[in-house]
Amino acid sequence: MINKVPACDRAKRRVLVPTMGALHKGHAELIRIARQNAGKDGEVVVSIFVNPLQFEPASDYERYPRPKSDDEEFCGKAGVDLLFRPSAAEMYADDRSVFVKEVSLSNLLEGKSRPGHFRGVCTVVAKLFNILRPNAAVFGEKDFQQLAIIRRMVRDLNWKVDIIAVPTVREADGLACSSRNAYLNAEERKQAAVLHKALVAAKNSGKKSTNEIVDLVRGRIAETPLARIDYVELVDASALQPTNTVIPNAVLALAVYFGNTRLIDNIELE
Ligand code: PAJ
Repeated sequence: MINKVPACDRAKRRVLVPTMGALHKGHAELIRIARQNAGKDGEVVVSIFVNPLQFEPASDYERYPRPKSDDEEFCGKAGVDLLFRPSAAEMYADDRSVFVKEVSLSNLLEGKSRPGHFRGVCTVVAKLFNILRPNAAVFGEKDFQQLAIIRRMVRDLNWKVDIIAVPTVREADGLACSSRNAYLNAEERKQAAVLHKALVAAKNSGKKSTNEIVDLVRGRIAETPLARIDYVELVDASALQPTNTVIPNAVLALAVYFGNTRLIDNIELE
């Protein structure tokens, strides 16, 4: 009987796009796909919530951009039906004591550099699903680890929410659109284009050994003086386990600092 329980009790199909605001072209594409999935009679809901639980250090949370009226206008123009923008006090009780923690995929890649980050993400997405009860939710492949973890959470907690993935949207020079790009100064912004170029060079090299691929990417990035590499790793897309050679669902992922700004990107190799 369990699979006969309806996904939600509303007549309209509701598709959620969870964001932290400072909306850009990447978010616009998620909203477009949400509308496509919801249909003209369905509802597209965007949530904007800078989630304190997923930031470390607190200063990163404080400085995260919050262009409230621009975001509101952006959503209006994009045809969003409902904008959900709660305050931190509305989302979290002072004495909160329940969290959602994924304990396998969260320890790799981003999780190694940002302990606690994915616990914050899972907890807030779980709360958004409970509050807004969407039939589907849209996430970007730019954060492919986040996407894999959300899929795992939905599977393991039996949520009736379809998870829709959207390919990374990029600026003209290949840099992945990100709210954090606004932190880059002119020179950092120019040099940050190396990330996608290095990933594409690795993909086009036809190399099959992880060591050779990682060396190639590291070498290309090292040519830009302002870049400081956090990690470059080749993993399989679903279990996120490191792989020694290129396998069918291999993803090459990286995190690199330009000044204080940490950027991430990835590319599928096959
Ligand atoms: P945020 O960084 O605002 O991103 C919201 C969604 O937009 C995520 O699914 C992210 O992968 C997607 N996105 C960002 N840049 C993109 C790009 N260039 N192309 C395609 N999609 C892109 O990710 C978060 O917020 C938070 O962790 C959240 C899921 C909202 C939980 O707090």
